[in-house]
Amino acid sequence: MSDTKNGARRRSSFREASIGLLSAAVFAVLFYLWGEELLPRSAGRFGRMFPFVGAVALTLAVALFLTEWFGFAGREVRKVRLAARDFLFLCSLSLVLFFLAKAVMDVLPAVPSRNTAIPARLFVYLIPLPALAMVVRILLNSEVAILFTVAASVLSAAAAFGRWPTLLFLLLSGTAGASRSGRIQDRYRMLLAGVLTAPICALGAITLELAFHGAAGIWWAGLFAAINGLAAGPMALGLLPVAEYAFGYTSDIRLMELASTRHPLLQRLMLEAPGTFHHSVVVGTLAEAGAAAIHANPLLCRVAALFHDVGKVGKPQYFSENQAGTGNIHDILSPGMSRVVILSHVKEGVRMAKEYRLGDRVAEIIEQHHGSSLLYCFLDKAQPLIQDRRASEETFRYPGPCPRTREAAIIMLADAAEAAARSLKDPAIAEVEETVTRIVNRAYLDGQLNECDMTLRDLHAVGQAFSKVLAALSHARVDYPESGKGPLSQVP
Ligand SMILES: [Fe+2]
Ligand SMILES: [Fe+2]
Repeated sequence: MSDTKNGARRRSSFREASIGLLSAAVFAVLFYLWGEELLPRSAGRFGRMFPFVGAVALTLAVALFLTEWFGFAGREVRKVRLAARDFLFLCSLSLVLFFLAKAVMDVLPAVPSRNTAIPARLFVYLIPLPALAMVVRILLNSEVAILFTVAASVLSAAAAFGRWPTLLFLLLSGTAGASRSGRIQDRYRMLLAGVLTAPICALGAITLELAFHGAAGIWWAGLFAAINGLAAGPMALGLLPVAEYAFGYTSDIRLMELASTRHPLLQRLMLEAPGTFHHSVVVGTLAEAGAAAIHANPLLCRVAALFHDVGKVGKPQYFSENQAGTGNIHDILSPGMSRVVILSHVKEGVRMAKEYRLGDRVAEIIEQHHGSSLLYCFLDKAQPLIQDRRASEETFRYPGPCPRTREAAIIMLADAAEAAARSLKDPAIAEVEETVTRIVNRAYLDGQLNECDMTLRDLHAVGQAFSKVLAALSHARVDYPESGKGPLSQVP
């Protein structure tokens, strides 16, 4: 087990080192191409050697800066612990911004037209940092978006004259874009975030222009900055699918699309395993309530719950929720055979999540939704085998991994709570609460929640939310009057 972990750690370090070297190489080429323009005085000092010496020195400086910046934050702030993929994504975005800043500063002032009257420095207000900061906030989180805004502002200010007003404007516009783009779940809100960012950018540009250069260019500065803010929404909308495809992220907008029951995989689940579909909808309702109670992501919980058991589509009759009126097929199977079929739904679910491009966040939750918990329903049946030492209790466990995020943990608990509550016949509220508490305690004591950031307070809040929803669901049905003499017959 520890060998496997060491191997995985070595592979991960190797991947991170490769990504670091690749990023450094790209930066080096970039600085080689533009070195003389960036640092003309150094170019003079090094003479013809400048492109090489300058490019290497600048690459080392940038690498040191990014490593220290994100490394320090990652060690101290839980939400900034970046995977290699995230680091590569942020480096790529920094490079994109660097190129865009260079293009804006080199190309636009040279366009022959009425633009000749506009001083070149004013084009810095068109550097599209707000759009990129929005994308980072949407795909990662606000803490990383703040760090990215600072790092990208410093780097792209260097590409655009490296003056104080430029740096201050980039910091302001990036922060404004990121702060207005939290929990965006549709295109309209994305566009609205850009509209709300525009006046802040315009005001910032006008005041900075006035402070550093006087009143002559303030209207152009304000106009360019407003255009930058307004364009941030549409630009971020265009960038999101590219980043999702290239880096395997899943934005809330994508989650909203997946939540539609017209999704082909949900259609299959509905038609081929209707019992599982119903179970998934109830688990989604529970998980959404649990996530809202502890400020986790309710949308991710609902969508991942809808898909968590899609691996059952190929063999629906082996799962109790689809066996109504057909008898239990496991009565004629050996416990070992039943175990193989049941365990396979997790692996199959991950495969289908990849096939239907559900994104890494949903696929990871599918993989972790049973953790390494026991197959309790077959344990009794397998007792003779275990007593004869022909099998051990451990072989009747799911292979894991255990939930690594709060959302995955909530779905694991909601899944087990729904199954346990289903077996209760017309339960009292106290009975539902007792069942939920038993499920939560069992998962906690079995070590299933050891790898995620759930506190005991979170577990209590999630359990309370589940009990409320389950109690409401089990008492929601009103008996339909058979004779037509009941209260419904009075409705016109
Ligand atoms: Fe499952
Ligand atoms: Fe399930």
